[in-house]
Amino acid sequence: MSGPGTNGAAGAPLLSIEGLSAGFDGQSAPAVQGLTLSVKAGEIVALVGESGSGKSVTALSLLRLLPRSAWIRGRAEFVRESGEIVDLYSAPKGTMLSLRGADISMIFQEPMTSLNPVFTIGEQLTEGLRLSGATRGEARERGERALAEVGISEPGRRFSQYPHEFSGGMRQRVMIAMALLRSPRLLIADEPTTALDVTVQAQVLDLLASLRETRGLSILLITHDLGLVSRVADVAAVMFRGRLVEVGPVGEVFARPAHPYTRALLACAPRLGAPRKRLMSIADILAAGDGPFGRTGRSPWMPPVDGDSARGDGCVLEPVGPGHSVAVVEPGEIAAGAEPAT
Ligand SMILES: Nc1ncnc2c1ncn2[C@@H]1O[C@H](COP(=O)(O)OP(=O)(O)OP(=O)(O)O)[C@@H](O)[C@H]1O
Ligand SMILES: [Mg+2]
Repeated sequence: MSGPGTNGAAGAPLLSIEGLSAGFDGQSAPAVQGLTLSVKAGEIVALVGESGSGKSVTALSLLRLLPRSAWIRGRAEFVRESGEIVDLYSAPKGTMLSLRGADISMIFQEPMTSLNPVFTIGEQLTEGLRLSGATRGEARERGERALAEVGISEPGRRFSQYPHEFSGGMRQRVMIAMALLRSPRLLIADEPTTALDVTVQAQVLDLLASLRETRGLSILLITHDLGLVSRVADVAAVMFRGRLVEVGPVGEVFARPAHPYTRALLACAPRLGAPRKRLMSIADILAAGDGPFGRTGRSPWMPPVDGDSARGDGCVLEPVGPGHSVAVVEPGEIAAGAEPAT
């Protein structure tokens, strides 16, 4: 796998998240706990984890799009093209408004419902441009160019069509075009291919990878599918129950997964021609969790089985290879019943 994240030529951090915790009023366990992660210029970082692990909450927190019932702690710094550093969690509302779409853009989960069936693709694609003062002609020209850039042929004709005249893959391409219209530096793509069939998934991912090359775009790619990650990402960041349990260059994480949960994810990832394995249960994962630290007395961090997540605190990321870290905890701090078998 080649790319800025793995060839040592990665740019400076564009986004640095430090110690992010987030949750919702009335819920005892936070949705995200102590997450630290950065995305460098021109890098594709994949945030991977099962349903409910806190991926979307992390993404939405960055644009401050969580509902009022949510709380956020920690810091997330973003570097604008001008060099200005914005703390996304404390910046004034006006700064956030000017940043959304222009500096950081997001493709939301469930893109199929994101297009309004009663307006043409072109109207929806260029609405933001029109609102910011572009003439009808300018907006059309830029909109058609954007459609061509995401691989939609005959953009002139397609511009005036309605969403139902587009296939699922093409609609996702439109969503990507819409997200890129104002040339953001960072694209957050939340499960951009979930609703698509396998071949179209690959095409959309290849499109994202090519946009990174042509635009120098940085991408935070959110997915529960580790197979997709290996195709395009430079860095894999694995989340489990709101915590980052492992992060590293994709090749490293795939070759030497250090956390039992990452190993379980890899064991379950479908491979062409191989029989599909049964999804491991949490108990299976814990049983498999001897980890690399048996002899040093530190164990890969695993949360208690009973779901009392507060007792998982005290874990730290420890390096296991170049740029590769795993969450570990002193044996004494692992909650009773969650101690991995050695
Ligand atoms: N608006 C909300 N109100 C209350 N709880 C929420 C809300 N949004 C998310 N949560 C909770 O936060 C936790 C993390 O959810 P999140 O949506 O980030 O998961 P995810 O990793 O994106 O999962 P998926 O792969 O299913 O999209 C879950 O327990 C979820 O129930
Ligand atoms: Mg989600």
